[in-house]
Amino acid sequence: MHMQFTNPVTKLFGIRLPIIQAGMVWASGWRLASAVSNAGGLGLLGSGSMYPEVLREHINKCRAATSAPFGVNIPLLYPDIQKHIDVVLEEKIPIVFTSAGNPQTWTGVLKDKGIQVVHVVSSSRFARKAAEAGCDAVVAEGFEAGGHNGREETTTMVLVPAVVDAVQIPVIAAGGIGTGKQMFAAMALGAAGVQIGTRFVLSEEASSHPDFKQFVLKAGEGDTQLTLKSLMPVRLLRNPFFKQVVQAEQQGASVEELRSLLGKGRAKKGMFEGDLETGELEIGQVSSLIQNILPAGVIMENLWLEFLKTWNEPLPCNLQTP
Ligand SMILES: Cc1cc2nc3c(=O)[nH]c(=O)nc-3n(C[C@H](O)[C@H](O)[C@H](O)COP(=O)(O)O)c2cc1C
Repeated sequence: MHMQFTNPVTKLFGIRLPIIQAGMVWASGWRLASAVSNAGGLGLLGSGSMYPEVLREHINKCRAATSAPFGVNIPLLYPDIQKHIDVVLEEKIPIVFTSAGNPQTWTGVLKDKGIQVVHVVSSSRFARKAAEAGCDAVVAEGFEAGGHNGREETTTMVLVPAVVDAVQIPVIAAGGIGTGKQMFAAMALGAAGVQIGTRFVLSEEASSHPDFKQFVLKAGEGDTQLTLKSLMPVRLLRNPFFKQVVQAEQQGASVEELRSLLGKGRAKKGMFEGDLETGELEIGQVSSLIQNILPAGVIMENLWLEFLKTWNEPLPCNLQTP
């Protein structure tokens, strides 16, 4: 952990390791973000599940818990974005990750205040749009990822090199990365860093409900699926609510019907209150590879040590000259 590593992502954010803990509704509050930042990565507060004043409280608590850089994730699909932006400006947050919306709307406003802006994209077309809007970097988030996702279903393996070719700014890979080996693979594809969500839901510091974490631990291959594609695609873990959604979709439910089935507060119910029957449970495919809940600092250390080990011995084979 003491070796110095620098690349465009560590330089951009002033961090030691090119690992970003994803902003996640109902999971990434000040405890998780500060633990990751203290461990040398970049912690992000997930403002999508916070009222503006709650966000301000988390910013202050995060500042008290770490002197290292941290940022705020703002999904642009929610109402009242202006209020979240105002909090970020008033609190002089230096790094903002935006997602699920048009990067042209807010990037200029944030850049004018000297904020580093990163936008999450699921295609090279959107990556170009983000670069044109003035973003400092993009997150290329593939189909495997937990949470809201692109309609095109492009996997991380295909998306990352495409986005690396499409833009000149640093590319951060996301979706399906939970180990140092996977991180190494993403960086071999040209990414300058990784954004990790699901692995950090299974940390002690994530504010997700303990029953949700235990349920995620049991997830196997094929237990998550991209759903609600006609409304707002999201990767969900199979539970009775998921089955209801799939059934409605198979029966040709309209967008309005799906919206009313989803209702309000579904994600909070599932992920924060631990209602595994009627709540919405968002998680990534990589959940099937994760067997434990660990302190975020230990997750960071494991990721980095496995990354370095893979760097030194990338392939289990011998190359012999004839
Ligand atoms: C529970 C959960 C909630 C999420 N909430 C958000 C969010 O509020 N904003 C956002 O930009 N992305 C959100 N995401 C996506 C993550 O930011 C990240 O890009 C993704 O988790 C990476 O893929 P992985 O889960 O395979 O690591 C969420 C993901 C999960 C698992």
